[in-house]
Amino acid sequence: MAALRFSANLSWLFPELLGLPARLRAAGSSGFEAVEVAWPYAEPPEVLARAAREAGLRLVLINTPPGDQEKGEMGLGAVPGRQAAFRQGLEQAVRYAKALGCPRIHLMAGRVPQGADRRAVKAEMEMVFLENLRHAAGVLAQEDLVGLLEPINTRITDPQYFLDTPQQAAAILQKVGRPNLQLQMDIFHWQIMDGNLTGNIREFLPIVGHVQVAQVPGRGEPSSPGELNFPYLFQLLEDEGYKGFVGCEYQPQGDTVEGLSWLRSYWDRRGHPEVASEGLHTTHMPLDSE
Ligand SMILES: *[C@@H]1O[C@H](CO)[C@@H](O)[C@H](O)[C@H]1NC(C)=O
Repeated sequence: MAALRFSANLSWLFPELLGLPARLRAAGSSGFEAVEVAWPYAEPPEVLARAAREAGLRLVLINTPPGDQEKGEMGLGAVPGRQAAFRQGLEQAVRYAKALGCPRIHLMAGRVPQGADRRAVKAEMEMVFLENLRHAAGVLAQEDLVGLLEPINTRITDPQYFLDTPQQAAAILQKVGRPNLQLQMDIFHWQIMDGNLTGNIREFLPIVGHVQVAQVPGRGEPSSPGELNFPYLFQLLEDEGYKGFVGCEYQPQGDTVEGLSWLRSYWDRRGHPEVASEGLHTTHMPLDSE
């Protein structure tokens, strides 16, 4: 089984460093081969592309812009009345993805509007989401990009978020039926909403294009105290043949670099990507082409 490949989420890791270029340098010197950033939009894409190149990193995931955060928006994909803003945000994300050589964009679903009842607006929001996703799939296909749907837990993290279970996301993906739209599996959110991780990982992995990890309930390092057994989960992902990236989207409990000891011991055990990279060129891995 191939070893897993990890990506540093720069919206979460290295919080002590200000600005993405500094965080890119820190990720590169910590041994990462890849990074992801929720919203890279404060800096010009050329600046980020150069910093990533200099740090020997590739960018593997960005998100569509959140919309108006002061008004409580957290993505626009399923939000009625915001279709034009969703499309504009998508265009901006595609521009960044192209300039950065980033193959995946998380298409954020967004929140149930304030004051609205989830059950009352569910059908309308799903209709808006389906329409936006069909549009996005076409735009992304022209650039050879993949769009991702990520369920976010509504029990702790974001009670208003529209898309909150893998089952809901999988049903929507099936209705849209486009191969360049896939599922983003954040194990932290999945554990909180449904548990049953062995069953759900096996069931949904065939449509998963990206994985993210954090311990539950503290959202710290995989090695921090909590209810998830990451050695087991990493082994499961390897055994199921997962070939994409595992994003480290957690809140470092102390110094980020010291907190990466779990990853250094994974690399010691399973091989570091740079050391193993000779094999990468000879092995066919469909999701490795970025
Ligand atoms: C666990 O997940 C699998 C796959 O999604 C499902 O078939 C099974 O019914 C679930 N088990 C429980 C106890 O929820």
